Amino acid sequence: MAILDILTLPDPALKQVSEAVTEFDDALRAFIADLEETRRNGPAAVGIAAPQVGYFKRVVIIDCSTTRKPVPNHGYLVLVNPEITHWEGYEPGREGCLSVPDYTGNVIRATRIHLVARDPNGEPLEFDMEGYEARAVQHEIDHLDGLLFVDRVVSRRTDLFKRKVYQKGGGS
Ligand code: NI
Repeated sequence: MAILDILTLPDPALKQVSEAVTEFDDALRAFIADLEETRRNGPAAVGIAAPQVGYFKRVVIIDCSTTRKPVPNHGYLVLVNPEITHWEGYEPGREGCLSVPDYTGNVIRATRIHLVARDPNGEPLEFDMEGYEARAVQHEIDHLDGLLFVDRVVSRRTDLFKRKVYQKGGGS
């Protein structure tokens, strides 16, 4: 396994749209192991998306089971070709990102979603998610579409906040 380099703003590659995975093979699973090791390295993130390490395929990992304040969650999830098929409600919430190490921001997201995806072997997955976990998935799927949370803040003047320190074990 290997820890991969994370692309950070303003790297233009972060705007690239990722392609669907078509081969559920050992190379994909080896990449996912590296992506997970990278997520856990340094300031352990709630989620990470493949394009953040320059792999432009539709793969994300989330794990909302270790947040400081417990939230409803499905634990550690590898989501290949994830698609949100239903949205409900919306609320603002604070987000951070490994690719935007110096800022957090307030972003409006759906509060409940229905999600379909594949697992690393190509088997279908389906979830109803809410709150923080639903937010994390929406944030990671944005990466697959070349979007960062800073692209979604209503006002860069009032909704972006400079980080003092990227705390270990915190953030998303
Ligand atoms: Ni991110």
